[in-house]
This record gives sequence, structure tokens and C-alpha cells, in this order.
Amino acid sequence: MQRGQFSSRFGFLMAAAGSAVGLGNIWSFPTNTAESGGGAFVAVYLILTFLLAYPALMAELTIGRHTQSNVVGALDKLANGTASRIAARTVGLGGVITAAMILSFYAIVAGWMLSYLFVPVAQITGLTGVEAWLTSGSPDNPGNWWFFTAIFSALTMLIIMKGIENGIEKWSSRLMPSLLTLLVVLIIYVMTQPGAMTGLQVYLVPNIADINTDLLLNALGQSFFSLSLGVGTMLVYGSYLSKQENLPKLGASLALIDVGIAFTAGLLIIPALFVAQAAGTEIYNEAGSLIAGPDLILQVLPSLFDSMGSIGMIVAFAFFALMSIAALTSSISMLEVPVSYLIEQRGMTRVRATQVAGSLILALSSLIVFNFGALFGLVVDTATVWLQPLLGVGLCIFVGWIWHRNSLIESIAEGAPEVRNSLFMKIWPTYVKFFCPALILLVLAQTVNLF
Ligand code: PFF
Repeated sequence: MQRGQFSSRFGFLMAAAGSAVGLGNIWSFPTNTAESGGGAFVAVYLILTFLLAYPALMAELTIGRHTQSNVVGALDKLANGTASRIAARTVGLGGVITAAMILSFYAIVAGWMLSYLFVPVAQITGLTGVEAWLTSGSPDNPGNWWFFTAIFSALTMLIIMKGIENGIEKWSSRLMPSLLTLLVVLIIYVMTQPGAMTGLQVYLVPNIADINTDLLLNALGQSFFSLSLGVGTMLVYGSYLSKQENLPKLGASLALIDVGIAFTAGLLIIPALFVAQAAGTEIYNEAGSLIAGPDLILQVLPSLFDSMGSIGMIVAFAFFALMSIAALTSSISMLEVPVSYLIEQRGMTRVRATQVAGSLILALSSLIVFNFGALFGLVVDTATVWLQPLLGVGLCIFVGWIWHRNSLIESIAEGAPEVRNSLFMKIWPTYVKFFCPALILLVLAQTVNLF
């Protein structure tokens, strides 16, 4: 069977950046920053992304492009004995399951964004009953949460059913530029409001005293989540990439876009918090730290939008459209991991594979929605704090210890012979073999609160 491919470098970049840029950038990066030391967190996050996440990203892209296979098939192709075959199965299936777990909670949060997107629409059309219903979801009243989770999952499935070029690439190339435009317009608006400059200062001026091991490990977890690492998403996208491309360069562009947009989103969210304060909203919690997490996105910001009068409705719509788009281009990349596995290893058609994986994941989301208190945090932490970094170690080990070094170098140099003598080639193979796994293991010692 003919495998799909991205039709152009731009298409790949939009799709991979679409995967990387998501709620992790626009929600958890700014809120993590608000919680842990403002500028100090930003500085550490930027450094760690380039020291650790970028090399791990390169491991995934390289394996994917070399093997042209889904995550399980790819690792199986690299394996060369019984032990490494078992390791390939464990890491590969672990990636498929973890991608499914991440999507199951991500779709719930994305559902919140969708429901809030309709609030201004209900306000403008005067449907007050609908408006009240849209924001009425809670752990004790999860009906509307479930409804919007299901709608979001259906959208994700519709795009994935269309395949690589007509689904993932086409939609990412449409949605990513609109995301950027919305972000820039919102920043310009917020910056002109009273209070914004105080926020900018908190965001940008690092206080060195805030740097501690908690912050370090927290920032590392954030950068792995943000670059979609560990679960095979980038590996699968790399497998749809032509052998003509210069991988280290493409990977670097991707990492730059991802941190660039996270950083830019901070320019929106943190100043917006202080604009809300100037408009009379409480932005510190009882413990004296900045309000973060769902309360920031679903309470502080909406109350800021309300205080802006009628323009507030447009701003609210633009903001939740931005969030929903960011979530959708990420969720499709998560679903592609199990779908490509079912197509290539289990012989299903794309439509069938999408239906099977999509409905199983929606069932898992439903279980979480209706047992929110017990399951949500557990699934988020298990997938992002433990499994993602652990699988990241597994992928680095495949590149560093199982893949023959000469073949690795040949594979990267394919399409870009100049890479052979580059600094990247001198450092990266050794780096990904020893430093990356060791340092990622450090993350596991730490609990990261993403949402
Ligand atoms: N990188 C996405 C974000 O920042 O929101 C989250 C994500 C996407 C994680 C895809 C894992 C994944 F496979």
C-alpha cells in the first residue's frame, strides 16, 4: 500500500508546528510561568528546550524518516535481536497507549475551549439560557463537558480520516496562520489596556533567586510536553517526510517556532492577568500566588472580557477560537499515532482505524469526564509526568545504543550531505546516547502539574 507523505516542507512544518503548538503553549506555559517565578521560569525553559528537548526531537524525526513507519513498526525495524525486539514492542506500544491517554484528557480541556467559544455567540444573540448552560459544566454536572468533548473528538477524527495531505497538512496549513494572526491581534489589544505593563515586567524580568530544582524540572517537563515528545507523534510525522530534507535544520525551525509561540502566548496571558487586576478582578489566590490553571483561563480571563463591554465579546471569541485551533492541530497529531499503527500493523483502512481508535479514546474521555475528581489528574500525571519522559528515554536509547552509528549518520546526511561535517553531527550522536537519557531520568523524580 502506498504510504501518505507531506507534499512540501511548508506542509510538514505547519503540521509539526501544529502538533507542538497547543494548549501546552498557550495554557500551561503561561500558567506555569505565573506559578513559578515569572521570568526565571521563561529563561530556564528556553535553555532546556535547546539543550534537551531539541536533541530528543531529533531522535524521533530521524527514526521516523529512516524507517518510514509508524512508531511500533519503526522501532521493530531498528531492533536487531530478541531483547531489542521486546524493547521495540514495549516502547512502541507504550507510545501508542500514551498518545491515546493524552488525547483522552486533552479532548476534555479542548471541549471547555469550544464551549466558551460559543458564550459570546449566545450573548450576542441574546440566548441567556444557552449562555448559562455553556458555562455550567462541573465535576458534579459533567453533561456539557461530555457533549463538547464528543464534538471535539469528532472534529479530530474527521480530519484524520482524510489522511496526511488532505487532512493533517491541509488543515494545519489553514489553521496555523489563523492562530498566529489571532494571537498577534489579541496581544496588540491587551497591551493597550491599563495594567499590561506591570504584567510584562513580571513576565520578562527574571529573578535569579527563583531558580531552584523544582523550577528546573518543571520547565523540562513543560518543554517535553510542548514539543509533543516521547509518544511517537514526531516520529510518525517524520515518517511522512521526504528523504530530501535537511533534518537538523527542520528540527531546529520546529523547536524555534514552538518556543517562539509559547513565549508570545505569555505576552498575551500574563499581561492580561494584570489588566484583569486593574479592572477589579482578584488575580492572587489565598496563598498569595498568581491564580493559574483552569481558574485563570475559565474565570479570570472571562471576567476580564466581561468588563470590556461589547468589544469584550469579540475579544472572548477570538481568544477561545485561538485556543480551540491550537488544540485541534495538536489533537490530530495524537490520534495519528494509534491510527498509523492500526493501518500498518493491523491492516485496517484509514477510515476504520480512525473509527476504532477515535471511539476507544472517546470512551476513555467519557470515563474521565464522569469520574473527573478521581481520574483527570491521575491520567494527566501518569501520561505526561511519567510515561512521556520514560518513553523519551527509550527512544534516545534506540538511537544511541541500538541503531548502528554509521547507519544513523548516513540516514541523517541523506538529503543534506553538508550535515556530515557539521557541529550537530559532532555532538548530537554522543549527546543523545548519554546525556539525554540521564537528564530525562531526572525529570521522573519530579511531579509536573500541567493543568
Ligand atoms: N504539544 C502539545 C501542546 O503543547 O499542547 C501537546 C501534545 C501534542 C503532547 C501531541 C503530546 C503529543 F503527542
